[in-house]
Amino acid sequence: MCGIVGYVGEKPAASILIDSLKKLEYRGYDSAGICVLNDSLKTYKTTGKIANLESILPEGIEGTIGIGHTRWATHGKPNTVNSHPHLSGDVAVVHNGIIENYLELKEKLIGDGYIFKSDTDTEVIAHLLHSHLYGGIDGVFKLCDLMVAVQKTLLSLEGSYAIAALCSSDPGVMVVARKDSPLVIGIGDGEIFAASDVTAFLKHTKDVIFVDDDEVASIRAGGNVEFFDADGNPVTKETIKIEWYIEDAEKAGYEHFMLKEIHEQASSVQDTFAGKISEMEGAVVLDELNMSDEQIRHMTRIEIIACGTSWNAGLVGKYLFEQLAGIHTDVDTGSEFRYGYPVICGEVLTIAITQSGETADTLAAVRGARSYGCRAIAITNVVGSTITREIDSVLYTRAGPEIGVAATKSFTTQLITLYMLALKFARIRGKISAEDSKNLLVALKKIPADIQKILNRKKVIQECAKQFSDSNDYFFIGRHLNYPIALEGALKLKEISYIHAEGYAAGELKHGPLALLTDKTPVVAIATKGHTYEKMLSNIKEVKARDAVVIAVADEDDTEIEKYVDVVLRVPKSHELLSPILSSVVLQLLAYYTALERGCSIDKPRNLAKSVTVE
Ligand code: F6R
Repeated sequence: MCGIVGYVGEKPAASILIDSLKKLEYRGYDSAGICVLNDSLKTYKTTGKIANLESILPEGIEGTIGIGHTRWATHGKPNTVNSHPHLSGDVAVVHNGIIENYLELKEKLIGDGYIFKSDTDTEVIAHLLHSHLYGGIDGVFKLCDLMVAVQKTLLSLEGSYAIAALCSSDPGVMVVARKDSPLVIGIGDGEIFAASDVTAFLKHTKDVIFVDDDEVASIRAGGNVEFFDADGNPVTKETIKIEWYIEDAEKAGYEHFMLKEIHEQASSVQDTFAGKISEMEGAVVLDELNMSDEQIRHMTRIEIIACGTSWNAGLVGKYLFEQLAGIHTDVDTGSEFRYGYPVICGEVLTIAITQSGETADTLAAVRGARSYGCRAIAITNVVGSTITREIDSVLYTRAGPEIGVAATKSFTTQLITLYMLALKFARIRGKISAEDSKNLLVALKKIPADIQKILNRKKVIQECAKQFSDSNDYFFIGRHLNYPIALEGALKLKEISYIHAEGYAAGELKHGPLALLTDKTPVVAIATKGHTYEKMLSNIKEVKARDAVVIAVADEDDTEIEKYVDVVLRVPKSHELLSPILSSVVLQLLAYYTALERGCSIDKPRNLAKSVTVE
């Protein structure tokens, strides 16, 4: 995920910015840059590590005010041109977030004569700032100061942003603003810092001010900061003392990356559908899919290829594509696909799901599918990864970098992408009405808030995890869409807590596994309301009759379930097709707290790697 930093003080800015960017490295990035203002703007940027950026910096860069950025590519390849800061005349800007209406703004700015150098959404901010400052590309006289130009620019932006801007005709001031992307100001002694998180400047100051949504701040040399609300009214802000150690802060205060990434899901899910859905029209816009309506209508089958957690997401995708869009869907693991019958793929769409975009088995299987003539698309989280170079089109999840080995936010954002894709196919194939599609999109928009509710109540899940952390075996059961979620719940638990865990289709227990159940075997039953609910209750009774302990994942308004089970972990009531996303967050927390209780190496479980690049 991108990170921004800024400095206004009396010391040379360049080295402070570089140091701050290093502190943001844990967020993950593919390129970095800084801009220092002395008499003019001096900009340095490049791809790869911050060490690469350091190697291109000349000695003794003068200037005590500057901005910097680590970029995690979303719009446009990870290359030097696309890295930040972005410039327009004597204006420089860094940005974290996504400008959803950038195409529309870009078109207008091009019409006004602005020339775009990069493929990023951010560059529109630089040109908008310039056009407000000078009245257009050919303007010579300054019409307003940087602060006013930022305020005017923000009025046209839709989406999320944390920005920091400089302008050489307004020296000695840095302007920052935020909406839906983190931004914090550090108050030092005669110097001010700005950053995406406090890690960046923690070694200089622990006195911070959190910028709120729609606020703008003007930061001047001498340590003077003024805050304004969206209407330009001055705002008084409270300075807070942060009691963090630098080591903790690298995980933003979370004990493990996995916990941090579980908590990021409300925003990563939101980012993944942002700008892609219109609930007013019941439409999903996925231009990057690059498929004509004709191709979508003539599709006869979908072949999903993935491994591990991504394969579990694929199984959810099968239900979605079949139920919503009426397209027969097969799901194969990358490592097994090649042993199947070589299908004739004229009308078959292959969908590869891979967080890293580097999983060797998935890559090999996709190469195989394409060699049969299949059109292939990828759902991945990493811009520029191998799969993106070997595929017809790419749908990016916007989970941001996932550092913990156990996939969490990449899984839920894959589910969101599959959901949008299935809805798009369903509409084009005439399988659902605009009205039904609208309702499903309204339900989708509620998911980030529902995830947040689960996170707010995580203590109950932690208690439950503690209670059963000594177990040797666990079962996870579910039906229909909750069956893959049972598989995923078991996978999470086994990989990080080393407890033997099996995921089962609830109806299959009686065909063998019931023999294993004792009063020492917790069975997690995913029993959210839906058309299989009654059958799940019967399966739960079967399990209870064998004295096993049942932990149910159930809707918050379900009062029936408590009669049959030992513990209930609640999820907010949501649409049946979306509740798997919420249940998975509960199961991630259950696995996390179980592993924590058992003292396991959560972020780096034994024998596992984040990216499996061998077949
Ligand atoms: C489990 C996990 C793995 C990955 C699998 C595929 O938590 O992370 O099972 O899902 O190795 O990885 P990607 O999605 O990168 O292809």
